[in-house]
Amino acid sequence: MAESMSGMKRSHRCTEVSSANIGENVTVMGWVQKSRNKGGIIFVDLRDRSGILQIIFEESDCGQESFAKAEKLRSEFVIAVEGRVEARSGGVNENLATGAIEVRAKYLRILSESATPPFPIEENSKTKEELRLKYRYLDLRRPDIQRNLMTRSRVATLTRAFLAEEGFLEIETPTLIKSTPEGARDYLVPSRVHPGSFYALPQSPQLFKQLLMCSGYDRYFQLARCYRDEDLRADRQPEFTQIDLEMSFVDVDDVLDVNERLLKKLFKEVCNVDIALPIQRMTWQEAMDRFGSDKPDLRFGMELKNVSDVVKNCGFGVFTSALAAGGSVRGINAEGQGHMPRKKIDALVEYAKGFGAKGLAYASIGEDGSVKSSFAKFMTEEEMAALVSAMDGKPGDLLLFAADKNKVVYDVLGNLRLELARQLDLLKKDDFKFLWVTEFPLLEYSEEEGRFVAMHHPFTMPMEEDLQYIDSDPGRVRAKAYDIVLNGVEMGGGSVRIHQADIQSKMFEVLGFTQERANDQFGFLLEAFKYGVPPHAGLAYGMDRMVMLMVGADSIRDVIAFPKVKDASCLMTEAPSAVDEKQLKELGIEIAPQED
Ligand code: AMO
Ligand code: AMP
Repeated sequence: MAESMSGMKRSHRCTEVSSANIGENVTVMGWVQKSRNKGGIIFVDLRDRSGILQIIFEESDCGQESFAKAEKLRSEFVIAVEGRVEARSGGVNENLATGAIEVRAKYLRILSESATPPFPIEENSKTKEELRLKYRYLDLRRPDIQRNLMTRSRVATLTRAFLAEEGFLEIETPTLIKSTPEGARDYLVPSRVHPGSFYALPQSPQLFKQLLMCSGYDRYFQLARCYRDEDLRADRQPEFTQIDLEMSFVDVDDVLDVNERLLKKLFKEVCNVDIALPIQRMTWQEAMDRFGSDKPDLRFGMELKNVSDVVKNCGFGVFTSALAAGGSVRGINAEGQGHMPRKKIDALVEYAKGFGAKGLAYASIGEDGSVKSSFAKFMTEEEMAALVSAMDGKPGDLLLFAADKNKVVYDVLGNLRLELARQLDLLKKDDFKFLWVTEFPLLEYSEEEGRFVAMHHPFTMPMEEDLQYIDSDPGRVRAKAYDIVLNGVEMGGGSVRIHQADIQSKMFEVLGFTQERANDQFGFLLEAFKYGVPPHAGLAYGMDRMVMLMVGADSIRDVIAFPKVKDASCLMTEAPSAVDEKQLKELGIEIAPQED
């Protein structure tokens, strides 16, 4: 039985009804959260996206027909109710926005019935995520997810308003584009008209926004859909949204300035968080040395210390051989954790090995100052005392050391620091610590490819003072690149771009591109740069990540209406799926037999 709503018009959302409406007639529509029949009187919690409102049915008010319908109500039925607002008869419910009132129904229609949902629609659901994602349209009814998506909408609206005010133009760029593999893997779309040819879905609007600068648009932005075929994690999806922007006639400070003001506005209006400007800046090198990470979480200390000099002549071979091989020895001081039982320390050692550590050396300092350590036997007392002092070790502290190539040491201790913070509950979600990480290396050596690859992308401008090293020591060249980091998450990143043909050619050369390959992949950009190109720079935020941090979610899946799971599939629609033989034929595609 599904009735029409003809002749009825919704007057309020559930929580728009308040004590100010007492005595008035209202018409509300929504889903039955819960219905309790107390014999002669029926209480219904009505839910819509605004929240919950209590409705009371008594036959003497609503008549026999409506009362009979009310007796049939079950969870998730969709109803329309006309009634009178009254002060709540059974006392105020402090937990509800509408807890001081109720609506005494005069008339009820059942607009749609509901099968029993596979899980209860409730805040903080305990239902397994797989089941929730299979029935995402039900999951999306839950108040916490609804709030997340409302926040997301608000971020989009505020961003548009702010950037428009600052003179940015919103311009769309295509999503069927030329494949320019560099960075993540592309998603490809076969062309029917050009058999054997493919479009790629954009990993970002990077080249198009640079071309818009060439075309004189000056300040551009877009809430851009981006696609990357990479391994998924809690903060990565195969398709995601960037707040993407680009500016002409600017340098690093100009980009950071307008973005700081955007962030200040967003976080104030959405979370009532005051960001003190300017946001702290730290070079990439300092971030690595102090936190072992290019996206340091500044909500707690436990900084890395380089003790290479202190241990360089000690008797512990693990330390000295790492140094002899050009590596370093660094440590962190887990203050007050000297009592940590052996088993827990062993678990930390295993955790460290997960990041490539060959081991983890530790020293617990007892309350009496005595040191218990996995490597004490290799050191003199003086050597150990010097090490403890270099680490500011006090009675009751636990010192942890890694010795290896710098990259491994940073990675191990950077992650260990975070793991300890999680174990010690040091990560408060309502503490917002912003940081610009600047002066990233321009290039990064890829063991896999046996060459240097761009750390950001091939259009990133080297720092002028480092250009002299680009041939002799490419790894030493720093870039005019920056990331905005919040609580250990890379929320956004960008750079000043190369606008000089000679530097761009040099960059391609260092990256191992032949002139031919550069022309083949980026010819249109290089060509455009021949016709007058302004200096330009920009940045893109991962909007999903930003909203995730704002609402304190653990995963970007919680702020995306229809997310995908780890294997990049959609549990609800079952995409990706096989297609018709006919479609494949039109595209000239044959599927190779799959090995298991
Ligand atoms: P970058 O590759 O650093 O820069 O991306 C910018 C931001 O996008 C977010 N992000 C993601 N979010 C969710 N899922 C993913 N798979 C994913 N990958 C990236 C991150 C990241 O900081 N064109 C340049 C920007 C520029 O130079 O202006 C770019 O795309 O938050
Ligand atoms: P071993 O001599 O192998 O018994 O190692 C002595 C201690 O040093 C153990 O606690 C190991 O976990 C630790 N260790 C081994 N390799 C490293 C390394 N590369 N960095 C830090 N500690 C290590």
